[in-house]
Amino acid sequence: MRHLTRFLVCAIALIPAVMCAKKTETVINVVPYPQSVEIGKGAFKGAGANFNCDQAIDAESVNLIRSFADRITFVSGRTNSFASPIGLANAAQDGKMKGFIFLKDGSMAPEEYSIDITKKTCLVKASEKNGFLYAIQTLKQLTDVAIYSDEVDPAQKFMFPSVSIKDKPRFAYRGMHLDCARHFFSVEEVKKYLDVMALYKLNRLHWHLTEDQGWRIEIKKYPKLTQIGAFRNGTMVGKDFKSNDGIRYGGYYTQDQIRDVVAYASSLGITIIPEIDLPGHMLGALAAYPELGCTGGPYEVWTRWGISDEVMCPGKENMFTFLEDVFTELMELFPSEYIHIGGDECPKTQWEKCPACQARIKALGIKADSKHTAEQYLQSYVTARVQKFLNDHGRKIIGWDEVLEGELAPGATVMSWRGVKGGIQAAGMGFDVIMTPNTYCYFDYYQSEDQTQEPLAIGGNLPIEKVYGYEPFEGLNADQQKHILGVQANLWTEYIATNEYLEYMLLPRMCALAEIQWCNQNAKDFDRFSSAMRNESFKIFDTLGYNYRKF
Ligand code: ACM
Ligand code: ZN
Repeated sequence: MRHLTRFLVCAIALIPAVMCAKKTETVINVVPYPQSVEIGKGAFKGAGANFNCDQAIDAESVNLIRSFADRITFVSGRTNSFASPIGLANAAQDGKMKGFIFLKDGSMAPEEYSIDITKKTCLVKASEKNGFLYAIQTLKQLTDVAIYSDEVDPAQKFMFPSVSIKDKPRFAYRGMHLDCARHFFSVEEVKKYLDVMALYKLNRLHWHLTEDQGWRIEIKKYPKLTQIGAFRNGTMVGKDFKSNDGIRYGGYYTQDQIRDVVAYASSLGITIIPEIDLPGHMLGALAAYPELGCTGGPYEVWTRWGISDEVMCPGKENMFTFLEDVFTELMELFPSEYIHIGGDECPKTQWEKCPACQARIKALGIKADSKHTAEQYLQSYVTARVQKFLNDHGRKIIGWDEVLEGELAPGATVMSWRGVKGGIQAAGMGFDVIMTPNTYCYFDYYQSEDQTQEPLAIGGNLPIEKVYGYEPFEGLNADQQKHILGVQANLWTEYIATNEYLEYMLLPRMCALAEIQWCNQNAKDFDRFSSAMRNESFKIFDTLGYNYRKF
């Protein structure tokens, strides 16, 4: 049975045997831990139970519920009948129904749900798809891990412990980032990444699609982006920045593949936020269209990691035309409210020398001041122009915290990555913020101090205990806290070339992240979390074939 029965073993030497009845304590191993949990007595048998679905529930949610029923049916071999009886809500209220009962409760928030399990019924309420989705994820973690299995087991009863759960997330934005530019991950691998995000109730994938080391998205108007920009002539070996393995490397997603991934994510309650990183980190595009850079090239897709001095030239009007064209195609593919425009790590050495950039600075009347250089204000101009274009098309921008250097137009959202200070500053200025501090949320960092026992990583040390300990409101007053949309962890892939290694860096740290995103501060408990990971989540990973780091 999924819920762990803990036997408190009596100290036989001290307590007479007659008093030593086995005492049991039901513990639920759900991660992220629900907001309110009341454990009852007994259990509900899921195998063979009827599924009753409120007629008011939308078709997408009904499909999710049906898939859950199908899982139970498939593994246990016992058919779960599926019905939408009239008057279900009243019958459920009167205690006349048995089995699974799914009701729409329009008073609940979109991601909220409740579960009430007795010996006879498993009653689930939510108002919308994500609420039903999360209820189902919780139910799956309450019952036997075989619910994730592809093996038929006629002995499987799928018992669910009697429990009353009321649940909703702490933060609306619960993100995970994936860098598919330094290394390329296939559509199937990205879908597997999305699958495990959904299991832990994450709802945003920040998809990093362009870089110095490769451009990964088909743009019809600029075919050379993928013909040239998506491939590099080798990759540096280990940490030897002068080396090159000489192996041509690359790949990209066609627009059809992007559409497929976006739809798949949506079915899992996940919105994909694409990132076109500008005006730095653009060698992939410059190699394809050298006229977009300050020097005119020639440029090469980079074969090493780091920060390139070669960036786009905002002195040239065609750079803005290019970006607008790219974003026009991007917006057709990604329905997300937010588009990430990067903005990080853009050296200004080229701009300082470039006649076109300097002419632009002069024409705009930009002047350096005690806080920022003229070139930093030039980047603000780029950010503001792209922001206006996207705003005019109904979208909002997210930028890395460097976008605060200079001036940032209202309506931008800042992603705080260089620690928390950028986020605190931005929130204090009234900008919305997503917290993704490298100090707690960079999953490309090592997972232990002893690096000899770990695969090669970029550096740092971010064990799961440290991730778990992150409190996003620390250092923020009540007004500033209102600007924190949520939290995200980033997975940069310079040193992560395989999907197996990607999963190892993601899991189980992403589960710690999920508790930061979902649970209220006082509900976090590392001992409870660790025990749930070992007793439940590791078994899920084993069943579903995820690689992960044990702790
Ligand atoms: C970043 O890590 N350069 C955002
Ligand atoms: Zn220039």
